[in-house]
Amino acid sequence: MTNSMGTKLGRRQFLKTAAVAGAGMALAKSALTAEDGFKFKTSEDDLNIAIIGVGKEGQVLRDSIVRIPGIHVRALCDIWPYNLNASAGNLRAFGHDLNTYEDYRDLLAQEGSKLDAVVVATPDWVHAEHANACMEAGLPVYCEKEMSNSLKEAQTMVETARRTNKLLQIGHQRRSNPRYLHAIDTLVHDAGIFGRITHAYGQWNRAVQPDISVADSLALDAATLSKYGYENMHQLLNWRWYKKFGGGPIVDLGSHQIDIFTWVFGINPKSVCASGGLDYYDPSCHDWYDNVLCIFEYDVPNLGTSRAMYQVLTTSSNGGFYEKFMGEEGTLNIAEVPTRGNGAEREARVEEGKWLKYATQGLLKRSVTPIQINKTKNVQVDVRDTLPTGQWPIPVGMTKPAHQPHLENFFNAVRKGEDYKMNDIDGKGGSLNCPAWIGYETAVAVLKVNEAVAARKTLDFDPHEFHV
Ligand SMILES: NC(=O)c1ccc[n+]([C@@H]2O[C@H](COP(=O)([O-])OP(=O)(O)OC[C@H]3O[C@@H](n4cnc5c(N)ncnc54)[C@H](O)[C@@H]3O)[C@@H](O)[C@H]2O)c1
Repeated sequence: MTNSMGTKLGRRQFLKTAAVAGAGMALAKSALTAEDGFKFKTSEDDLNIAIIGVGKEGQVLRDSIVRIPGIHVRALCDIWPYNLNASAGNLRAFGHDLNTYEDYRDLLAQEGSKLDAVVVATPDWVHAEHANACMEAGLPVYCEKEMSNSLKEAQTMVETARRTNKLLQIGHQRRSNPRYLHAIDTLVHDAGIFGRITHAYGQWNRAVQPDISVADSLALDAATLSKYGYENMHQLLNWRWYKKFGGGPIVDLGSHQIDIFTWVFGINPKSVCASGGLDYYDPSCHDWYDNVLCIFEYDVPNLGTSRAMYQVLTTSSNGGFYEKFMGEEGTLNIAEVPTRGNGAEREARVEEGKWLKYATQGLLKRSVTPIQINKTKNVQVDVRDTLPTGQWPIPVGMTKPAHQPHLENFFNAVRKGEDYKMNDIDGKGGSLNCPAWIGYETAVAVLKVNEAVAARKTLDFDPHEFHV
């Protein structure tokens, strides 16, 4: 089996070569004009899109989409008029000419043939229904993580993408973040500056939050809620806490970072043990564990076993969210918010000159801290401790909102006329950073944590589990 890292690096290399060779771009499906009812599509590279689900994340994606030239939002769908109308108004203010729908089936029936792609940002439990229907209608899909709260449903998404040969990008946006790409592809994999990474740590700690509620005047009526599978507004607004609709905090928050563990180690985990519980919030309206601590094991090819510890807390914000990759020669500290992690830490036993060379090569920014500490005679190091060597900042920044590069990565693949096959595990010529098969691997790893909590033991993964 080709592992995630090997395949992706190979593909990226292929693309670079193709670009240099001046490979031609296939054109996106349609080039609609004013006569078709769409006013703004002025170039073959412009894309007409729809967004299904414009809650908090749909709004975040919307705010990135309006910054991307040539993307025209033509249709929005949401069962809740409050969110639907707010986003429609916002987009119209940015010049987008769009129609709104309560039911995605009406959207596809009315607009499907005029669209080039759909962005899905509904709750996890309807991702498969929405993404599959769009792909069946011939449309490439950007679907938010988690691919689904049910592996069976996630499987149908991979199967549909494969059968229809449509692009399916999953919203693990760190995979397109230039800081992560530099840190993981370049520093970890290409330059190997951390040596063998034996351990990883990640956390997402969040303060106590009350459940979401709205004034009765804004609530959806009972009949509409029931039509779409919700018993009440609490379920619609707080779907993450319910087993029917989501996977709980470990899936909601942890999946972003557990996904990165796989990227770094270049292989899926072989086992996971976990402990957690619903210990703080009201069990009458919360199903899922509000805290989970888990340990994954990885058999890293040619290197041996590495372990990754992860925790998600919803009762303390201590430390926020970040990831650490600890190697024999140094540690990578990284977080989606750079103030939480954006540097490399040299092990004291590694010659400083070696890292100064990395700085000269532009791999890292030079740290001033180690020289200062090393030259200060008064620094007393406890015999049980190792001299700290300071942070060498990652020299790649990002000025765009966190989700924009991942959306751009998807839209560019649509513009190039890429398909599922090119982006499959052994595909050639695809450029998606998180195609369906990677999203599926991450779903397998993450959903197993909840099983391990329930089983109160270490669970092994069968390598075949990761493939559809
Ligand atoms: N990538 C990220 O960083 C990130 C961050 C947050 C959320 N997410 C993901 O985005 C998705 C949405 O999360 P959210 O925080 O926006 O939730 P949300 O509850 O704020 O929004 C969900 C929206 O979907 C609508 N909806 C529910 N069922 C629907 C249906 N059947 N048809 C149409 N609309 C429906 C709701 O009315 C609501 O407006 C989830 O999958 C979540 O995991 C990703």
